[in-house]
Amino acid sequence: MVCAGTGCVSCGSFKIKEALEKEVRKQNLQDEVLIIATGCNGFCERGPILLVQPEGVFYQQLKVEDIPFLVEEHLLKGRPVKKFMYIPPKEKNPIPKMKDIEFFKHQRLIVLRNRGRIDPEKIEEYIGFDGYEAMAKALAEMTPEQIIAEISASGLRGRGGAGFPTGKKWEACRKEKATSKYLICNGDEGDPGAFMDRSILEADPQAILEGMVIGAKAIGAEKGFIYIRNEYPLARQRVDIAIRQAREYGLLGKNILGTGFDFDVEIVQGAGAFVSGEETALIASVEGRIGTPRQRPPYPAQKGLWGKPTVINNVETWATVPNIIRRGAHWFAGLGTKTSKGTKIFSLVGKINNTGLVEVPMGTTIQDIVFRIGGGIPQNRKFKAVQIGGPSGGCIPAKLMDLPVDYESLTEAGAMMGSGGLIVMDDKTCMVDLAKYFLNFLRDESCGKCVSCREGTQRMWEIVKRITEGKGRKGDMELLEELAIACKDASMCGLGQTAANPVLSTLRYFRKEFEAHIFEKRCPAGVCVNLIRYHVLPEKCTGCLACKRGCPTDAIRGVLKGVHIIDQTKCIKCGACLEACRFEAVETQRDEAIVIVEETR
Ligand SMILES: Cc1cc2nc3c(=O)[nH]c(=O)nc-3n(C[C@H](O)[C@H](O)[C@H](O)COP(=O)(O)O)c2cc1C
Ligand code: FES
Repeated sequence: MVCAGTGCVSCGSFKIKEALEKEVRKQNLQDEVLIIATGCNGFCERGPILLVQPEGVFYQQLKVEDIPFLVEEHLLKGRPVKKFMYIPPKEKNPIPKMKDIEFFKHQRLIVLRNRGRIDPEKIEEYIGFDGYEAMAKALAEMTPEQIIAEISASGLRGRGGAGFPTGKKWEACRKEKATSKYLICNGDEGDPGAFMDRSILEADPQAILEGMVIGAKAIGAEKGFIYIRNEYPLARQRVDIAIRQAREYGLLGKNILGTGFDFDVEIVQGAGAFVSGEETALIASVEGRIGTPRQRPPYPAQKGLWGKPTVINNVETWATVPNIIRRGAHWFAGLGTKTSKGTKIFSLVGKINNTGLVEVPMGTTIQDIVFRIGGGIPQNRKFKAVQIGGPSGGCIPAKLMDLPVDYESLTEAGAMMGSGGLIVMDDKTCMVDLAKYFLNFLRDESCGKCVSCREGTQRMWEIVKRITEGKGRKGDMELLEELAIACKDASMCGLGQTAANPVLSTLRYFRKEFEAHIFEKRCPAGVCVNLIRYHVLPEKCTGCLACKRGCPTDAIRGVLKGVHIIDQTKCIKCGACLEACRFEAVETQRDEAIVIVEETR
């Protein structure tokens, strides 16, 4: 099984597959070995990934030139090759089998149950793993009311951000009296660092289609749309193939499975705007208008696409539905916490050893995700915080590591579940700089319809930017808090309403860092260039010239074997010397106040 998710494809997995096919033919193994391209395996950072079944031997970071040896040793002679196996950080011995690797061991795969084990471009493989069983049951044995009751009893809440109960939304739409109703699958996924939906679309598109047919029967819709952002070409291609194959098998289109039920699906390609993921903006975009939100109510369930009742759910929500119908609401409700049922997929990124996609039961602690599954922080650095819930989520500090990830706990802590982006930060991350990054993203993505969001995000960004430049003033933090509340209260859609979360949560948990920037003109994390200074530690400098050679502005003076000095008037603080030095002799000076001369207008 060769991983052909976007991550592995981008580091050459199609070439690995070609090389495997060639080598397998060369060794005359073509009748013994089947080579399958799967969707994302989850452990994207280790790509390209190859899984040898049935033993489950896990190979990683392969190169084309490794393949002849691997085929000869493992596939021909039956000797798994240690040097291509995964070695956990701080350990020496490789772990041969996928099931024994910590990253995989502690996950609970429900939505991602088919990841890495089927070819997403072959419907037969999906059917082979109980695919379309739930749809057959829903169409042949259940009434729409029974389907909705089952989804409601499961406790499923939307995975796209707000966590609205799915059964309740379907029921509201079912009750509407209209000649036509629609379904939408929201695959816009604009959050930086998030790739959960892309991975499902690429790895198991039939699961989404199956969920949508079940939803269509529940609300009485004949037509559905899958909205995929422009940046996801592979996802689009796989969903396209999936739709064609489902139609050929009579699982989509007219008279599905001979039950007399008609439903078909069309793909709509987004143009890559974050705000277009908001449901009313997305509906406008599908209709061919500019993707900007409108005031709610009426909600889409009452007045959605072309003014007709419409159910819009996230990719992960749709892919969860068949599992609930097949295995029962009771089973699903048994997973997770009192108010957050089932599992949640997170994309684990940032300063983390095991970058990738993880699915865990709701209520799993941040500590377990970051340390047990994620393998902790690289280079033994200190864990500082996680940004959870995307750009409008919030940061949770290390001291709240035991917090369970469920909708209520996260909101109470000032963050939110969002769609599942989880960015890990170490002690080298400046929280003021982080708030600036997200504000910059949000001010850029704000559609500009409401003043509070358009101007609020812009002003908050300007203030935070000024603080990172060492020009912070007394009263800035209070002004930020005031603006944040206005933006939250007065904005029309979720973008403006949650835009202040990164600022408010960083102010709440890392106020001292703001104070250091504003009053002491220091950046304790050593990130904000105006507030740091690079210097060479004489006792550690070996005079190897590496930093001198790496400096693009010739700011380093010194001779071979002599202590080097950085000329502060020439230094542009690019950090090249820090990276070049192998003796940890270059340091960022962050404890000393830097005098900032403010320009006067
Ligand atoms: C600015 C903004 C962007 C959003 N982007 C997405 C997105 O990319 N995908 C998504 O499913 N929901 C997104 N949402 C939430 C949707 O408006 C909507 O609540 C969701 O698609 C409903 O599906 P669910 O109930 O299954 O979560 C976004 C909301 C806002 C305010
Ligand atoms: S793309 Fe291969 S593991 Fe994610």
